[in-house]
Amino acid sequence: MTGADRATVASVAARLAAAGVPSPDVDARRLVEHVTELTGSCDGCGGALLDGLVARRSAREPLQLVIGRTWFRELELRCAPGVFIPRPETEIVAGIAIDEARQHPSPIVAEPCTGTGAIALSVAVEVPGARIVATDLDPAAVDLARDNLARVLAGEAGPPLVADQVEILHGDLLTPFRSPGAHQAWAAHLEGEVDVLVSNPPYLPAADRGSWQPEVADHDPDGALVGGADGHEVVDRLLSAATTWLRPGGLVVIEIDERRGADARLAATAAGLVDVRIVADLTGADRAVTARRSRAAHR
Ligand SMILES: C[S@@+](CC[C@H](N)C(=O)[O-])C[C@H]1O[C@@H](n2cnc3c(N)ncnc32)[C@H](O)[C@@H]1O
Repeated sequence: MTGADRATVASVAARLAAAGVPSPDVDARRLVEHVTELTGSCDGCGGALLDGLVARRSAREPLQLVIGRTWFRELELRCAPGVFIPRPETEIVAGIAIDEARQHPSPIVAEPCTGTGAIALSVAVEVPGARIVATDLDPAAVDLARDNLARVLAGEAGPPLVADQVEILHGDLLTPFRSPGAHQAWAAHLEGEVDVLVSNPPYLPAADRGSWQPEVADHDPDGALVGGADGHEVVDRLLSAATTWLRPGGLVVIEIDERRGADARLAATAAGLVDVRIVADLTGADRAVTARRSRAAHR
């Protein structure tokens, strides 16, 4: 970065800070890098472009929507209005699923609630031979996840991938994979065959709505955030689904509200799962519940 660029970053950071943006220095640097990548410089037409993007970020539009992309583990993913933006803490959740999937020769991984496809596509590129099924209830998310899949297949988003490794369907949790015909043959009849069930579902209680930053309240879709009145509805449904969709001994990994570790442990145990663990993230907060379907269970 040149001295002129550094001066531009400093002046953008000052504008963002004045607008109350929580991370003005990091965001200013990203915006300047983005414009430099597109136009070669932040002068002239690059300067006009930068000015427009800074105005959008100052109005508290998330940085990822302003630049249209985000980075998740090894991938650069498209982001679009109306679809949940992947968060850094979810990289840990994906990592648990990836470590488990690597223990199997050709694992089947299911990811309901895929959003941009961040977790599913990370598993696909980081676990050779894995086959992944993913769903989302929101058609806009399904379109974006498929677009990101196409970019990965084209080598535009990260490491390469085999064409028929990933199946993304529209619908509720895993139910789309009960209706054969709409997808690839290997993805039909997966009940009792899944090695890893991983998800970052909506898990916040409805009462939290008033406390969100503008970036979340005005841009993340409500259906991606709120998991029913008490927040735990979708987590509970996923834990219950794990008892039939996992093969005996298979692992479920679900991102949770950091305030709900004890609830998640109780719910997993009540669902009949074993080896229940609550995993902390790098800040020490409870971030995921993991559990296994009993090896003694019948398919
Ligand atoms: C918190 S976002 C997570 C997105 C993505 N997995 C990530 O980590 O970035 C939750 C996603 O679940 C989807 N969703 C909510 N309820 C669902 C359901 N019953 N079945 C499938 N998807 C659902 C939402 O549309 C949203 O895309």
